[in-house]
Amino acid sequence: MKKILLATPTMHTEEQQYIQKAFETNWISPLGPNVDEFEDKVAAYVGAPSSAALSSGTAALHLSVILAGIKENDIVFVPSLTFAASVNPIRYEKATPVFIDSERDTWNMDAAESLGTTYRGKMTGTFGDYGIYSFNGNKIITTSGGGILVAKQKKDVEKARFLSRQARDSARHYQHSTIGYNYRMSNVVAGIGCGQMQHLEEHIQKKHEIYKAYKDSFSDIKEIEMNPLNKEGVDNNWLSCMTISPDSVVTPAQVMDALEAENIETRPIWKPMHLQPVFEEYDFIQTEDGISVSEDIFNRGLCLPSDIKNTKEDMERIIKVVRKQFGRQ
Ligand SMILES: Cc1ncc(COP(=O)(O)O)c(C=O)c1O
Repeated sequence: MKKILLATPTMHTEEQQYIQKAFETNWISPLGPNVDEFEDKVAAYVGAPSSAALSSGTAALHLSVILAGIKENDIVFVPSLTFAASVNPIRYEKATPVFIDSERDTWNMDAAESLGTTYRGKMTGTFGDYGIYSFNGNKIITTSGGGILVAKQKKDVEKARFLSRQARDSARHYQHSTIGYNYRMSNVVAGIGCGQMQHLEEHIQKKHEIYKAYKDSFSDIKEIEMNPLNKEGVDNNWLSCMTISPDSVVTPAQVMDALEAENIETRPIWKPMHLQPVFEEYDFIQTEDGISVSEDIFNRGLCLPSDIKNTKEDMERIIKVVRKQFGRQ
């Protein structure tokens, strides 16, 4: 039985053309025209003045923390329902994270995965002084691994580029007046990003179709609720998730086991940061009485396969297994 995966990279032909050009022109190490083009493409797409292509979303978050001047013992508010990479850069700088619970009706996730999502007519990532996107393998577009930082002020992007290249002062010899990092994206990797950007809208469209297929197929099962959509803009729907109502006799573990038995990959929703052993000493601000919303989503939720290469037959296979758990054909 074919394995159905959660979300894997979807490549086209242009990515290889960009990489081939990098080889032909020997723009391998480390910067080059693909990096410039990728930065321009992403900045233009999200409506930011400029951007710095980096080795990962985590690197982009780390540089944002530094640019914001966050230092030892500063308090940084961060969502609890997220991936640890959103929190680690706060600790790299020895600042103190304070975890914020989710809103019930939005789940309150806007992080690294949201390229292409809008809120009140503006692209996510462009509200604050700095925004970041990840191009890790499971994201809406990927560069195999990589990230980008956008900023309101061009000078901040310049500073991020400077820090990401070991903070080399302008001198003939190597001279450094501040601590730097090796965080720049390479020209080869950026070529993948340039090719992927040409397909971003198509990826988003396919992700919408996946979400809609699940939503429509489970609409008669009251115990299933799909992840809420952003009511004030357009989601990129990079990952479809569902929760099961607390009064159901069916548990998420049961549904995940049934899917796995049919060679279909699933995953629980992110375990909130305030429950992670590594962050247990930090405060958590809960938005509702009783159980926290993020914990409740974690307990009752699961991620459904959202790979845009999954065929109609694959989707039918997944939907059939889930429906069967709730006693439906
Ligand atoms: C919420 C969140 N924050 C941060 C990151 C880190 O991005 P990267 O894996 O590119 O370092 C990711 C993606 O993996 C993420 O999902």
